[in-house]
Amino acid sequence: MVVRKILLYDNPILRKKCKPVNAVSNEVKKLINDMANTMYANNGVGLAANQIGELLKVIVVDISEERNELLVFINPKITKKEGSQLGVEACLSVPKFEGEVDRSQKIWVKAKNIFFEDLEMETDGYLAVALQHEIDHLSGILYTDKVPKGKLKATEDHKSPKDI
Ligand code: NI
Repeated sequence: MVVRKILLYDNPILRKKCKPVNAVSNEVKKLINDMANTMYANNGVGLAANQIGELLKVIVVDISEERNELLVFINPKITKKEGSQLGVEACLSVPKFEGEVDRSQKIWVKAKNIFFEDLEMETDGYLAVALQHEIDHLSGILYTDKVPKGKLKATEDHKSPKDI
């Protein structure tokens, strides 16, 4: 099992735009494995490929308590948004901080799955927040960009999965 190093907020790679994946090669499969291992090892609920230094449009998410509902999205794109929700977010690339972000309540996502088949998902609530956070990463956007000035708060180490 390979757990990769997570890049931190001041690393310029996190500000670059990720490139679309053309096929699920062995390298991409390995990347997805490494991402899932790294997310779970760090008790996170999501991870984008550029957080471990790979500029590809791949995200993994698992918001389940039991940590057994891995979702993988390749080339994810939000095609429709509805409503808004205000929630506290944290990020594995910005340790020991959290802040409130205004996100869409409901989103429609198009992507490819691990077999490179079309995947469509309509979701709301916290999963919608996690997906918006991760998809932002792929465009070089951190949640801290969306926290109103002066509202980013220092926290203790998180005890429950929360970092996305
Ligand atoms: Ni994040």
